[in-house]
Amino acid sequence: MITNTELEKKGNLFPSKLVSYEQNGDSILFVSENGVHLIVTVLRDSMLRFRYATHGIFENDFSYAIDNDHSHGYSVLEIIEDEKFVWIVTEQIKCRVNRNDMKTAMFDIEDELILQDELGYHWEESFEFGGNYVKMSKSTVEGENFYGLGDKPTSFNLKGKRISNWNTDQYAFGKDLPELYKSIPFYIGLHHAKAYGIFFDNTFKTHFDFCHERRHVTSFWADGGEMNYYFIYGPKIAEVVTKYTNLTGRPELPPMWALGYHQSKWSYYPEAKVKELAAGFRENKFPCDALYLDIDYMDGFRCFTWNTDYFPEPKRMVEELEEDGFKTVAIIDPGIKIDNSYEIFTDGLEKDYFCKRADGPYMRGKVWPGNCVFPDFTNPEVREWWADHYKTLIAEIGVKGVWNDMNEPAVMEVPGKTFPLDVRHDYDGNRCSHRKAHNIYGMQMARATYEGVKKYIFPKRPFTITRASYSGGQRFSSTWTGDNVATWEHLWLGNVQIQRLGMSGFSFAGTDIGGFADQPTGELFTRWIQLGVFHPFCRVHSSGDHGEQEPWYFGEEVLNITRKFVELRYQLLPYLYTAFYQYCEENIPILKPLVYFDQEDVQTHYRADEFIFGHHILVCPIQEPNVQGRRMYIPRGRWYNYWNDSIAEGGKELWVDAPLDSMPIYVKEGAIIPKYPVQQYVDEFQIEELRLDVYYKNGKQNSIYYEDDHDGYDYKMGLYNLRTFKLTGKEKEIIIQQHVAGTYESNLKTMKICLHGLPFDIKSASVNNEDVTLESIGYDKEGQFITLNENFTDLRLVSE
Ligand code: GLC
Repeated sequence: MITNTELEKKGNLFPSKLVSYEQNGDSILFVSENGVHLIVTVLRDSMLRFRYATHGIFENDFSYAIDNDHSHGYSVLEIIEDEKFVWIVTEQIKCRVNRNDMKTAMFDIEDELILQDELGYHWEESFEFGGNYVKMSKSTVEGENFYGLGDKPTSFNLKGKRISNWNTDQYAFGKDLPELYKSIPFYIGLHHAKAYGIFFDNTFKTHFDFCHERRHVTSFWADGGEMNYYFIYGPKIAEVVTKYTNLTGRPELPPMWALGYHQSKWSYYPEAKVKELAAGFRENKFPCDALYLDIDYMDGFRCFTWNTDYFPEPKRMVEELEEDGFKTVAIIDPGIKIDNSYEIFTDGLEKDYFCKRADGPYMRGKVWPGNCVFPDFTNPEVREWWADHYKTLIAEIGVKGVWNDMNEPAVMEVPGKTFPLDVRHDYDGNRCSHRKAHNIYGMQMARATYEGVKKYIFPKRPFTITRASYSGGQRFSSTWTGDNVATWEHLWLGNVQIQRLGMSGFSFAGTDIGGFADQPTGELFTRWIQLGVFHPFCRVHSSGDHGEQEPWYFGEEVLNITRKFVELRYQLLPYLYTAFYQYCEENIPILKPLVYFDQEDVQTHYRADEFIFGHHILVCPIQEPNVQGRRMYIPRGRWYNYWNDSIAEGGKELWVDAPLDSMPIYVKEGAIIPKYPVQQYVDEFQIEELRLDVYYKNGKQNSIYYEDDHDGYDYKMGLYNLRTFKLTGKEKEIIIQQHVAGTYESNLKTMKICLHGLPFDIKSASVNNEDVTLESIGYDKEGQFITLNENFTDLRLVSE
């Protein structure tokens, strides 16, 4: 155990005893004898913010992460004093501040200890840069586990890990790499079936240690800035995640086509190749909504230009693709080629929009176009200027989505793979060096892109994707996990990363399916598609130099199996879209790791393979070659095997068959899953019949279905429907009630109800409380189908 004195010897400083405290509205300021100020702000009954200023001087309170619309307000705030402590008490938590050393401890309202300072706040002066290294250490409770932290490619449970956040271009990254493309300094701790979250909102390089250095200590620290963190109480993980997501924001609903299957490669060119690709999808009857243009579509990699040898008439091509149901998505990187005949370069130079070194010269660095300068996206004027450049691409040429890459920012051929630390940034008026702006650069680029695409695609909805980001970046863009490799280990990593991102507020994420570097075997590609169709963002992308990665490239068997799974995704689109709606409206992640789903079951604490897709579908990818199935954990409850309706009793491990054309998928009993017919692309035709797969349960269960126009903003004016289906199952009866809220004029005419697992023969029925004959509702005994009017309110099926 390291003592304070030992740490002090190493140059660490600590607050001394408390000399005063004062309440000012929702904040309480504590001052120590040696001048340390701590402000504790009560944001919600379950959320406190802690800010420390070592010498009593706080920085301007500015954050890129916090969403202006976050919920704020509490019902109780009391300050209680005793001899040793000052207590801040809300309706849900108590914060204890020690008069002796200003250490804090958090309790729930039943006085159970949730989290307490070990060494607590301490700091070390940075002689090289000025300011402090700001540090915090907390005691870890026996049996405590940790989750979160964005895209880190390591085991799902973070216990024992040391991780840092410094956005880095990591081609073919390896397992356990501490730094990757994104910085999401948010984690969840879980012990005694109670969960809390810590969001350390500091954009400098941050570090997290989960019992790695010392067994009973969790610590986090930053290379500069303030010790500024939020404590978020659950007690459910689900509550921690939704509160964090509410605090840092969620995206708008994307257009539904963005949830379709997307195909990309570095690079599809020229036009003839793109057309051939498009034809390949339609000929093979393989659903696809979007085709991507990687850097080679540009003229010498100059952003917002076209290589007219490859793409002589981009507008026509994009239109023709659109007629065939394909949206075009184009890449845009931050590096602007140094070239006096290139307008963006000369214009940006004139307007003084490019990043500069501390002593004045421009920040120059090599990226794809050769020597480049880089817009300072932390300047609001630059963001607006950048946004306006999308006019031609989006409004005139008709590109539907934009993909931002290399925005860590990545620089080639230099040791740190990025800008030198002295580069200056505006940081929205809080001028600073790259040490502070580095981790935020990609998010601000994505933000400028989002604003631009949104402006010019209106009245449709924007779609953007970014590689680098920071907490809150989910408001502006979807993301992918970067340059992975076509290996089984990366398939495993991808599964963990997407669940982890979901737990970190960033649901709209996916991997390069099949692997970016190297080439997958047909078997690996198939298994990866099987996983990828359950990721919110579903795109095959690969580097051009390793052979082809179109689904038909691997032969007939792979084509047929992968088609079957992509078709399943298209059938499940209404279900996924509804989950997306709940993410946007209620901050609920689209994928739910098992520990999120049932934290009271300790079996789930180290589980990472299985996850819940939406609310009711349990998925477990196959992550090994040559297998005919696998063991998997079925969470508590009763589940239907998706393929054969056999029932699995949860709370235990099971062997599940999964030859190459299958994977383990289960549906929770009581669920009602809305399904579309297979389309080759979203809105290929008008859908007039919704299929509802009803999984009988002896008991009650609600399911919902959200519908709107699939694009545009009418839903914001109330033109949507939220249909709630209430299932009540009894021994000899099943009742399904529908309640429709909303004013959207649905295209649906009928609902085809498909019954699973009914334990009795249907003898009689009533619809909307009137007896009907089984023929009149199209009862098909063999298939267990019934067809009803879309607006039915009450269906009863009885065994006598
Ligand atoms: C980066 C991206 C990759 C892209 C390539 C060329 O490596 O991560 O997705 O294809 O650059 O633009």
